[in-house]
Amino acid sequence: MCGIIGYIGNKSACDVVLNGLRALEYRGYDSVGIAYMDNHGASKVVKQAGRVEGIYPLINKANLQSHVAIGHTRWATHGSPNIINAHPHINGDGSILVVHNGIIENYLEIKQELTKNGYTFISQTDTEVIPHLIDYYSKHLGTFEDALTAALNDLKGAYAVAVITTKEPDKIYAAKLSSPLVIGVGKHNEYFLASDPNAILEHTKKVVFLEDYDLAIISRDKLFLKDLHKNIPKHPKAELLDYDRDKVVLGDFPNFTLKEIFEAPVAIKAATLGRIQADKGIVKLGGLEIVATQLKLIDRIVIVACGTSYYAGLVGEYLIEEFASIPVEVQLASEFKYRKEPFSRSSVLLTISQSGETADTIAALNKVKDYGCLRLGIVNATGSSVARLTDAGVYCHAGPEQAVASTKAFISQVTVLILIALYLSDGTNSYRKLLKELELLPGKAQKVLDQADKIKSIALKYKNYKDFMYVGRKYCYPCALEGALKLKEISYIHAEGYAAGEMKHGPLALIDKDFPTLALATDSPELDKTISNLEEIKARGGPLVIIASEGNKKITKLADDLIYLPETMEQTQPILSAIVLQLFAYFIAEAKQVDIDRPRNLAKSVTVE
Ligand code: F6R
Repeated sequence: MCGIIGYIGNKSACDVVLNGLRALEYRGYDSVGIAYMDNHGASKVVKQAGRVEGIYPLINKANLQSHVAIGHTRWATHGSPNIINAHPHINGDGSILVVHNGIIENYLEIKQELTKNGYTFISQTDTEVIPHLIDYYSKHLGTFEDALTAALNDLKGAYAVAVITTKEPDKIYAAKLSSPLVIGVGKHNEYFLASDPNAILEHTKKVVFLEDYDLAIISRDKLFLKDLHKNIPKHPKAELLDYDRDKVVLGDFPNFTLKEIFEAPVAIKAATLGRIQADKGIVKLGGLEIVATQLKLIDRIVIVACGTSYYAGLVGEYLIEEFASIPVEVQLASEFKYRKEPFSRSSVLLTISQSGETADTIAALNKVKDYGCLRLGIVNATGSSVARLTDAGVYCHAGPEQAVASTKAFISQVTVLILIALYLSDGTNSYRKLLKELELLPGKAQKVLDQADKIKSIALKYKNYKDFMYVGRKYCYPCALEGALKLKEISYIHAEGYAAGEMKHGPLALIDKDFPTLALATDSPELDKTISNLEEIKARGGPLVIIASEGNKKITKLADDLIYLPETMEQTQPILSAIVLQLFAYFIAEAKQVDIDRPRNLAKSVTVE
C-alpha cells in the first residue's frame, strides 16, 4: 500500500528517496512521485502512474544533487491511479508539497469549505485538501509551523504526512495519526523519513518512531518534535533497531510467490528454532515469558486478524481449545472494532499479522487499549506497529514476505499457533506427539513440494473453470477458506470455501459438471462424514480434486484427481494442505500469465481501514 520516504542531508536526496521507494515496492502500488528542492530553493515535482524506475529519467541530472526530497508510492483509494492523483499534491502556487498515507475521512467537508474560499482542486484525492488547507491557514496565521499545526488538527481519519515548502527549503515537516512513520537519524547531519523502517535500515538503525499527534520539524542538524494537540515540545526518543534487513533475492525462482511457497520447510524450522525440545517435552516462548504469570489466569482468548492471518487464527482456535482448554473465538479485525461485547481483564486479545501494519488489526488493538486485558501478537515483521503495540508476543521469523499473496507467513503463523497451544497446555492429550511431529514437519513439507509437477499438471487441467468450491471439516475447514482465497487473489477465478457439512444447507445447489470442488479429506475421526459430503457432490456431477492422506484407498474411487499428503497429525495437516493449495493456485495463475507477485487491485500491507 502507500509508502513514504524522505531525506534531508548531504547525499543526493532524490537517490536516497527513490531507492527507499524501491524497497517499498513489494507492498503494491500503482503510481509514484517525488518532490524535491533544487539548488535555488525552488520546488520540483515528478510523478507518474507506474513504477519507480520510470521516475529516474524524469529527474534533471543537476537536481540529483538536491539535498531535500520526499517521495511516495500510491495505492489508489480516492480516484483512479493516474498522474493527477499521484502524490505529491501541492497548493496553488506550488510552494507547499505534501505526500500522505492513510485516509482523510472529513476531506469532503474541508474541500467544500476551501472551495467556498476560492481554492481549486485538480485531483480526486482526499490528500489534496492538505496543501490547500495549510495554504489557507498560512494566510491567517503567523508561521508555516502554526499553519501546518492548525491544518493537521482539522484532519479526521488516519495520516502519515511529509511536507516540504519553498518558504523553508531546508526543512521537512512530518506528522502521523494512526499510520506509521519513523525518522532515521543519520551519521552526518542527515535524517531519513519512512513509513516502514525496513526501507531505511541500510542507512541507519537509529530511529525515532513518531507517535500519534506528533509533529516533527527536521533540518539537517536538528530534529524538533512537538505534540500537535497540546502544542508543546517533546523530547525525541531515539532507539536502536536490533534487527538487520534480510537480503531478499529471487535466486532461480521466476517470482517471489513461488520462492516463498518453496520456503515452507525453512519457515517451519525458523518458527520452531530454539523454541522446542521434543525429547524433553519443552516448548519455550521467550516472547511470552514476561506475561507468563498473567497467562495462567486467563479464561478467554479473542483472536483478531484479517485475510490469510484470520484463517490461520481459525486453525489456532481448534488448536488452543483442544490443547489448552481455553475458550477461543476468532474475529475479523475489520468487524471487531464495531462490537460492543463484554471484554474482561482475564480475556486476551491475540492479534495475528504478517506485516504488523494492517490498519484494522491496529484499530482492534487500540480499541482494547484501556480494557486492562493482555494484548498479544503473532507477527512476522520485526519492529512493526503491531509488534510495538502489543504487551508481548511471538515472532514468526519467516523472513520478509515480498509477494502480495501470503504463503509462507500462513505456514509459520499456524506453526506458531501450535507452539502457543502447547505452551498454554498442561501437557495432556497428544502434547508430546505433536511436539515430535513439529520436528518432522519440515521434511514432510518438502515432500509435498516435491510433488509440484504433479500438482501443476492437475492445476492445468482445471485452469479454464470459472468457479471453484473448497471444502473441509474441522482443521481442514480454515484451510478450505484459505485455499479459496489464494485462488481468487492470484488467478482471479471465483472460489468459495465452505465447511464440508454446510454444503447441503445451500451451496450444493451450485454444483454441476462446471463447478469443481477441491476437497480436503485427510485422515481424521471426521473423515467418513467428509466422504459422505463428497459423495453428494459426486452424485451431482461435480468434478472432485481431493487432498488425502498417503495410503488412504477409500478415497480413490471418488476422486477425479488425487493429491496425497505425507501421513501427519490432524493438527499439522493444515500446514501441509496449505502448500498444496498454494501451488494449485499458483500454477493456474501462471498458466493465465497474470502478475502473480502483484495481483491487480491488491496491496501487501493494508494500511487503510
Ligand atoms: C492474502 C493476504 C491478505 C493478508 C491480510 C492481512 O494472501 O495476504 O489476506 O493476509 O491483508 O495481512 P497481515 O497479515 O499483514 O495483517
